[in-house]
Amino acid sequence: MKFFIDTANLSEIKEAHALGILDGVTTNPSLMAKEGVKGKDSVFRHYKAICDIVDGDVSAEVIATDFAGIVREGEELAEIDSKIVIKVPMIKDGIKAIKYFSDRGKKTNCTLVFSAGQALLAAKAGATYVSPFLGRLDDVSTDGLVLIEQLVNIYQNYAFDTQVLAASIRHSMHIVRCAELGADVATCPLAPILALLNHPLTDSGLAKFLSDAKKMSE
Ligand code: E4P
Repeated sequence: MKFFIDTANLSEIKEAHALGILDGVTTNPSLMAKEGVKGKDSVFRHYKAICDIVDGDVSAEVIATDFAGIVREGEELAEIDSKIVIKVPMIKDGIKAIKYFSDRGKKTNCTLVFSAGQALLAAKAGATYVSPFLGRLDDVSTDGLVLIEQLVNIYQNYAFDTQVLAASIRHSMHIVRCAELGADVATCPLAPILALLNHPLTDSGLAKFLSDAKKMSE
C-alpha cells in the first residue's frame, strides 16, 4: 500500500519524506487555505514547492465546477510539474473532465466520493485514483471501511486500473484496516502515520535492552 500525506504543510511533508516511506501528497482547497496561500501565483508556487520535496504523485484540486473550467484549470495545474495529478470533484462535469484528461494521458484523482456507484463512474471515466472519504462517512454514522471494501472488490471484479486512494483517514487503525482490505493508497495527516510507530511493548522492551546493555559495559 502506498502512503500519501494529506497536507499542504511543507514542514510536515519534509518530515514524512525524511522517514523514507512517503509515496505522494494529496491536498485540497481547505488544506491550501490553512497554509495561508493566496492568489494564483502563490498557489502554483506552493504546489511546485511540494513537488520539489516528494518523489511521487501530488494531487492538486481544481476549483471550477463546469467542464470547460475544470479542463482549463486542470491543464494549467498539470503544467506546474509532471508529478501533478488533477484532482476533480465527483460531479457530472467532473466525470466528463476525467474522461477528457484520461483520453489525453493525464492523471486524475476523483475526490469527494462517498458511494460505490460514484466510484464505478470514476473508474469508467478512467480516473487514475478515486478518493473515498472514510472518516467523513464515519462522522455521519456510516462505516467508511465498508465502502473501501466494496471499491476494492468492484475494481478487482472488472480489472479496473483505477486505484483506491483511501482518504479522510483519522487514525492509525484506519490505515491498518485499509491495508487489510487491499486499498492501493492511504492518505492521511502526519500524526496517524507516526502513531503506527508506537507500541508500549516496544518502549519497555527497548528500555530493558538498553539497561542490560549498560551492564555489559560496566
Ligand atoms: C482527500 O483527498 C482529502 O483531502 C482529505 O483526505 C479529506 O480529509 P478530511 O475529511 O479529514 O478533511
